Amino acid sequence: MVDIEQINPRNEAALRAWWEVGRAATADRPGKPWPLWEQSRVALPADNPERGVTLVGAIDGREMVGAGLLTRTLKENLHTAMAFAFVRPDRTREGIGRRLVEELEVVAVGDGRPTVQSEAYLPPGGSGAAEHFARAMGYDVASRESIKELTLTDFVERRDALAARAPVPEGYRIITFDTVCPEEHLASFGRLLGMLMSEVPLGDLDLEASEWSAERIRAAEQRQVDTGRHVQTAMAIAPDGSVAGVSDVRVDDSDPVHGQVGITIVDPAHRGRRLGLALKVATHDLAVATYPDLVSVDTSNAEVNTWMNAVNDALGYRTIETLLELQKKL
Ligand SMILES: CC(C)(COP(=O)(O)OP(=O)(O)OC[C@H]1O[C@@H](n2cnc3c(N)ncnc32)[C@H](O)[C@@H]1OP(=O)(O)O)[C@@H](O)C(=O)NCCC(=O)NCCS
Repeated sequence: MVDIEQINPRNEAALRAWWEVGRAATADRPGKPWPLWEQSRVALPADNPERGVTLVGAIDGREMVGAGLLTRTLKENLHTAMAFAFVRPDRTREGIGRRLVEELEVVAVGDGRPTVQSEAYLPPGGSGAAEHFARAMGYDVASRESIKELTLTDFVERRDALAARAPVPEGYRIITFDTVCPEEHLASFGRLLGMLMSEVPLGDLDLEASEWSAERIRAAEQRQVDTGRHVQTAMAIAPDGSVAGVSDVRVDDSDPVHGQVGITIVDPAHRGRRLGLALKVATHDLAVATYPDLVSVDTSNAEVNTWMNAVNDALGYRTIETLLELQKKL
């Protein structure tokens, strides 16, 4: 008999057992599908005023055989939660995944969040358990994305030709920083961040825009610093001094081998000048120069995001998986 129980992320032994299930359930995926233990050990118990986390475990006797995660944003999109289920590969098709998701949905509804979102990862152009499982659990596909990975040696080979294709436009300049935005650009950066939800293709995902005050940005930066995460950022400054675009590559102290692209956005008023490519060349240059051990960087984009996909292809990113963004209204 399998019991579904909430797991306290501050109980390190229980968190480790939970993490091991997720690692085993994602072991056959390409790229870096699961965080290192050190990353989860630090991130999951950390106080975060932006995000609430509930962990559940499926326990059989003394063993954890399934792991569930519910996350919810606390500043906006209070009607939504994200649910994830992982079942140890030797215990699939016993109904454990279903019980985990049902428990997470009860928690979501109890918290007043009737829109539950999730993600399923598949081989490119293929199918897999997660897609069948999502359908069986009543989730619809709201958007299709590609997960892409860049081997930095591929970037280094292309780098000079790319930089020649994307010179910094006349009157603009590109600045770079590690995590902490210079004070003089903070308000303008917040305005650009506020556009993200309306500018990034979201498909049918029911998500609303957010507001980024200077205090909120500073608090988020501080949490990154406290957890050893470096958000290596390039920012385009327009002739009038406003922030025209931004892109970043994130690298954790605990994993200097794999990086991840966070956000990329160019203000609609400043598009069509190859700022997106110039910003990405700048962040990847910064990553290569700062982390000699860095091997790869990953990112994901909606398949319909033609322009961002063209930039990433030019940098040398290759699609390694398809990501289905899922949604269910309870
Ligand atoms: C997806 C996953 C959680 C399913 O867990 P599970 O315990 O095997 O799921 P269940 O036994 O509760 O399956 C419920 C229903 O989903 C469907 N399903 C699950 N796996 C399936 C598969 N491989 N092929 C076809 N249908 C499948 C079936 O309809 C199943 O009901 P049935 O067994 O009565 O036919 C598990 O395969 C896993 O951990 N995969 C890796 C992590 C992941 O992709 N998680 C999903 C995204 S959050």
